[in-house]
Amino acid sequence: MWLLIAFLVFVLVLSLFHLNKTYYVLAFFSKRIRTVNGEDIKKILPTLPGNTIFGNTFDTFGLDFVQTFKFFRHNATRMQRSYVTYMGGKTLLNVLDADLAEMVFTNSKLITKGFSYKFLQPALGEGLLMSTDEKWHGRRKMLTPAFHFNILMKFQEIVKEESIKFVQRMENCKGHEVALDKHVQKFTLDVICETALGVKLDECLNGDKYRENISVFEESFNKRLQYPHLWLDFVYKTLEEYKYLPALKIVHDFSSDVIKKKRQQFAQEFHSDETSEEQLYQKKRYALLDTLLRAEQQGLIDHAGICEEVDTFMFGGFDTTSMTLIFCLMNLSLYPEMQECCYQEILEQTDSDLSTLDITQLSRLKYLENFLKESMRMYSSVPTIMRTVVEETSLSNGLILPANSYIMVHIFDLHRNPKYFDKPDEFNPDRFLPENSVGRHPYAYTPFSAGQRNCIGQKFAMFEMKTLLVHILRNFKILPAVDAETLQFQSGIIIRTKNEVKVKFVERQ
Ligand code: HEM
Repeated sequence: MWLLIAFLVFVLVLSLFHLNKTYYVLAFFSKRIRTVNGEDIKKILPTLPGNTIFGNTFDTFGLDFVQTFKFFRHNATRMQRSYVTYMGGKTLLNVLDADLAEMVFTNSKLITKGFSYKFLQPALGEGLLMSTDEKWHGRRKMLTPAFHFNILMKFQEIVKEESIKFVQRMENCKGHEVALDKHVQKFTLDVICETALGVKLDECLNGDKYRENISVFEESFNKRLQYPHLWLDFVYKTLEEYKYLPALKIVHDFSSDVIKKKRQQFAQEFHSDETSEEQLYQKKRYALLDTLLRAEQQGLIDHAGICEEVDTFMFGGFDTTSMTLIFCLMNLSLYPEMQECCYQEILEQTDSDLSTLDITQLSRLKYLENFLKESMRMYSSVPTIMRTVVEETSLSNGLILPANSYIMVHIFDLHRNPKYFDKPDEFNPDRFLPENSVGRHPYAYTPFSAGQRNCIGQKFAMFEMKTLLVHILRNFKILPAVDAETLQFQSGIIIRTKNEVKVKFVERQ
């Protein structure tokens, strides 16, 4: 009997040992990444040593958002290059090099988002950010014209109006330390609401409630991401979902109600499905929703589809932009000489009458643009993005990624990789001057991601941010109120800091 048991144990150990070549058995059978020529993967990429015998499964166990953020940065410093992790049955290729980022971003098979994005599904449905394959292709084709440079001009007045309101609000805080988040978020939310939905949040019946609850999109996502037991749908639905449902209902009902009202107005103005794009853009106050309503008339999308796209725009265009602006304002306060260069350029290149400010004037602000770019390099508001490898995929560096493995591009670390950016922890907008960019890998700087699934709103965001900055700098000098060294970053879909980012706005003499 004992002999039989010993034999069975021996056979089991032997087969597990054999299986361990294909799977990382102790990391709950995570399938291993192979190489094309059968060589040891170590020759191409290292594997991050795990904290336990279970590979990387428990590496982030018990860490809070700040510690998780530090954990990834620590890995980047420790590994100095892209690396592989095996955790809880999942295989993850962590990308920190531009070569590998290029292989991922330009591979048309790698357009499906990572498993964590499904945590956003209750909030965003299957909008542009989340969808894949034909659905994504169709929607991207439908929405791309709406983000054309010429269409942005239609939004100029809205962004200027909101910039003036921001400056007026800051007039009341002049000379005092201001925590930027609420103020900047109000600006970006009001802008995206009016440009996407065509309504002013302040004038809407449930506008304040919407404002108070929209953070639920991110909160529910981050909570699930942080606690692996919540990755299982039934556990999340049983233990957590009910906490977020009331807020989600408020946010969804708000956009759905606006869409219904706007549909009626749209139908009165454009009766047929023959509406041309030109006619649409002639509209006095065109909104992104108009493009969707026109597509609906043509039978290309339904109400649920419009809702998911609108919610996606609100999510994609709101806090990404506000966090970038917050860090940019902080950097302006911390580097007074550079702030002065931005100001002088604004005086030289834009009309003192800000009502004439337009895209042409904004495009002349090269120094300001480099300043913004450098802020996005050091404080990328989307620190990581993720992809699912749907089918086994070979990369040109010789790696074979197994089906159902994942790729995480660490944009934050890519941007601070000394291979591409000399003295990466130094703030230096001049590194983006054309002469200083010669030879830099084109995928070393990707704040808006790259390739097919890059950010559809990037030109919109740049024009919105520049407009606000011109208004602020024409009116105020920005003084420092935080030490950048003390910032405690938190991991999540959008970069955050635990401590408030503050500045002081004072009158320009
Ligand atoms: C500074 C501001 C912004 C930053 C840093 C940013 C960054 C990004 C990044 C990194 C992605 C890729 C996400 C991924 O692959 O998982 C993305 C996608 C996207 N962004 Fe932005 N974004 C910004 C502003 C905006 C704005 C203003 C809008 C809308 C008006 C927007 C809408 C979207 C959408 C819809 C996608 C999904 C595109 C697709 O998959 O086809 N973003 N953004």
